[in-house]
Amino acid sequence: MPQIFIDGQPVQARSDQTVLQAALENGFFIPRLCWHPQLSIAGNCRICTVQVEGRSWVEIACNMPVAEGLKVLTDSEIVRENRKATMQFLTLNHPVDCGVCDKAGECTLQDYHVAFNGTPSVSHDAKVHATKFYELSERITLDNERCILCSRCVRFTREISRSNALGIVNRGDHSLVRPAGDRPLDDDPYSDNIVDICPVGALLSKSFLYKSRVWYLKATPSVCPGCERGCNIDLWHRKPEWFLRSLDKAQNVTIERITPRENAAVNGPWVCNKARDLAKTVFERPRAAAPMRKGREVPVDEALGAARALLAKARHPVALVSSAGSNEELQAFQQAFAERMHCFVKTDSVVQPGEPVADELLIRADKNPNRYTARALFGDAPIGFPPETDLVVVWGEGFAFTELPRGVPVIFLNAFLAPENGHADVFFPLSLQTERSGSYTNFQGITSRFEACFPKPASVVDAQTVFGALTLAQAVAP
Ligand code: SF4
Ligand code: FES
Repeated sequence: MPQIFIDGQPVQARSDQTVLQAALENGFFIPRLCWHPQLSIAGNCRICTVQVEGRSWVEIACNMPVAEGLKVLTDSEIVRENRKATMQFLTLNHPVDCGVCDKAGECTLQDYHVAFNGTPSVSHDAKVHATKFYELSERITLDNERCILCSRCVRFTREISRSNALGIVNRGDHSLVRPAGDRPLDDDPYSDNIVDICPVGALLSKSFLYKSRVWYLKATPSVCPGCERGCNIDLWHRKPEWFLRSLDKAQNVTIERITPRENAAVNGPWVCNKARDLAKTVFERPRAAAPMRKGREVPVDEALGAARALLAKARHPVALVSSAGSNEELQAFQQAFAERMHCFVKTDSVVQPGEPVADELLIRADKNPNRYTARALFGDAPIGFPPETDLVVVWGEGFAFTELPRGVPVIFLNAFLAPENGHADVFFPLSLQTERSGSYTNFQGITSRFEACFPKPASVVDAQTVFGALTLAQAVAP
């Protein structure tokens, strides 16, 4: 463990670290733009310079290995001068359009300009113009004028997603990020991560373009239910203090964007594009709005009463348990039904047309977020209905009602609008993951929590509440 000195303070570094890594790990600040902890070192932005004590020049910390006794200064006179000059250079052709840029508020270049430069351009030349709104893919547009050519996006497609979809063409101030290689960026299921890691507003998500200023939004921690990886995510939605009162109030309960929440043990700092699209594909799907008895809307108490009566009468009930239920819901289900029902774990979601099945980075073939806990509580026997089955409880989507035994009453719980809802003897409309808190355990056995960000509509119920109410019913059943 070499000892180095940063700004006169002794620091125990690991021998495989760079000065930048040792500094960040020990609470020292060194600015960086092209460096990213998950990518190879490019060393091209030159903002991370430090001064080795005794030398009259600066060197980049992101590519400086630690060495026993090395003494560096992160804020000396020449370091400050160099940062200021570097910022002048990086912003030489960068447009001053922060007022309309989606990255404003979370732009590293903007922050560093304020912190290290803060003065207008010293250049007397006109800025070099480049392509605006270059369509990199169906999902991402590129503003080449804002690009500082840090190459993070290029390295991401080469080293992380391995699509090799991007490269840099031309030289000097004519350099441009452009599609490269055989695979288009559209074929990269991780492409949207380049929007996050772009340190400026060059790479823009079309689904978020001009939707909201980021300071109006807050991030609620959540977990992607798209596969058994359970990637940790942030759901971005309007802060209550910025709720719209008279304009479009639906925006107050809209997810504006979804980004990865870093968890080194689960997904690192990445998520696949499926997670980014959850708002449209899952959370904003048409909802089941009201409890029903054979297709007739009823108050929830009446539905609970009818379910109680069916449960009290049944002698050989079978339950199909959701593999998308939270740990808390699955435990509530176990307490309510496991002793007197034959329980099978059901597949709620399968691979959709055009969706990548599995890969070596994050995407898993099982598209259900909590089969791990469902199996731990209810086993993994294949679904079967004994001939004496006299009631079926179906929790969640994914099971064709045509496969159910004929003439047997059905209690169905589902969050979404579906024809089966009206065919069940008793139907309960469930809350969404965005309307309750809980946790999933992924295929590795790692548990991640999700929090509610919106209130649930008055007419829907939490599955846990239904199971709790029906547990009481069984306690008093003859
Ligand atoms: Fe870097 Fe963004 Fe330019 Fe890519 S588009 S090179 S991430 S500044
Ligand atoms: Fe070191 Fe860019 S962060 S050169």
